[in-house]
Amino acid sequence: MLLSLDSLSDRADSLDRQFATSSRRDNFHLPQHNGRPAIYFTGNSLGLQPKNTQELVLEELEDWAQLGVEGHFHGRRPWFAYHKHLTEATARLVGALPHEVVVMNNLTVNLHLLLVTFYRPSSAKYRVLMEASAFPSDQYAIESQVRWHGFTPEDAILELSPVPGSYTVDTEDILRTIRDHRNSLALVMLSGVQYYTGQWFDMQAIAAESRKYGIVVGFDLAHAAGNVPMQLHDWEVDFACWCTYKYLNSGPGGTSGVFIHERHVQDTSLPRFAGWWGHSEEERFKMQKGFKAIPTAEGWQLSNAQILPMAAHLAALKWFDELGMEALRAKSMALTGFAVEVLQRVNAWAVAQGMGEPIRLITPLDPAQRGAQLSLLVPDIGRRVFEKLSAEGVVADWREPDVIRVAPVPLYNTFEEVYRFGVCLQGALEQIRKG
Ligand SMILES: Cc1ncc(COP(=O)(O)O)c(C=O)c1O
Repeated sequence: MLLSLDSLSDRADSLDRQFATSSRRDNFHLPQHNGRPAIYFTGNSLGLQPKNTQELVLEELEDWAQLGVEGHFHGRRPWFAYHKHLTEATARLVGALPHEVVVMNNLTVNLHLLLVTFYRPSSAKYRVLMEASAFPSDQYAIESQVRWHGFTPEDAILELSPVPGSYTVDTEDILRTIRDHRNSLALVMLSGVQYYTGQWFDMQAIAAESRKYGIVVGFDLAHAAGNVPMQLHDWEVDFACWCTYKYLNSGPGGTSGVFIHERHVQDTSLPRFAGWWGHSEEERFKMQKGFKAIPTAEGWQLSNAQILPMAAHLAALKWFDELGMEALRAKSMALTGFAVEVLQRVNAWAVAQGMGEPIRLITPLDPAQRGAQLSLLVPDIGRRVFEKLSAEGVVADWREPDVIRVAPVPLYNTFEEVYRFGVCLQGALEQIRKG
């Protein structure tokens, strides 16, 4: 086992050259640290700002300043139909048909709206299968939904836990749980990519198993959209939603995407919480009673479009559309694979120093089961390591009690940054060893 990181420096350079066409680093604003770009590995939390964002947001501010209310119909992109500019690129991003997607609201709001339609429990089939360690907002959403229907979370929520000693959930365990509880499950509701471990669930197999038993299947794609390629239509997922401020770089608190499979969108009789923006476009301004749902995912809209967050999203989607998810995924696998190699070298170095292996990777080693993110379990000294990395200009993310998450993002991160991250990490461990 090679102990030195040095030999990886040349590899990093050659990989950066190899994947140069899949990088748009020059099109992003890079936060600075001591006069040079920070090593920004938190695109899984808040993506960086594309340089074209200001221009598109400013265009809408200008239209508003110059046209006032007339901007709804006479702006350069009339606000009345602004959300439609996002549809095609969004459909390509998640492998959907254009009438299966809409951009609106925020993620947790959309999750609730979708649950109103798709969680329709009966006294026999009322359970929801979810991860034991799902993102808290999803836990709260599901808890409140099952209570709303008169059930108790303790009984109605079935949790998937990792096998002891592991952090990830085995696909076979998920499929077996679905089979074993097929008579009581109303809904399977999982992440696409798990926020804590970075595990990418086998969405296709989970959707197929659920559909076999007539169980509705939905995904929270907060950590999957813009990170991994998906085919939501072909996989026959019932519904999904995601935020746009992580891998999709559309700004803090940005808008959210929704997918509803074709077989549902045309059924305008499906129960839902309705608002005027989901009502037939031809009749919307007649201001009459009697909701008539648009027979596409737009039929779930409540309110008129949030133009400024959507302008930021439109700017950011340009880069995904230009490169395509397949090319980004190819670079992402190489980039994150390289990060694994760097971490293995750092661990080997630490063992040689008598420190044991300080870092345990809790993200799956199999590239097919992860996206860009790696979660590093660093017992005892994790917080100190994280602080030393921050002092060196590595922007990572800390999760109590002992996990550092890093996500090298193919659009704007480089192999050279991954190499330098390894150098900083080794330096931090060396300082801690010396006391
Ligand atoms: C997996 C997951 N679900 C839900 C949310 C909540 O998102 P929002 O605040 O946009 O509703 C987040 C936020 O980070 C998340 O990571």
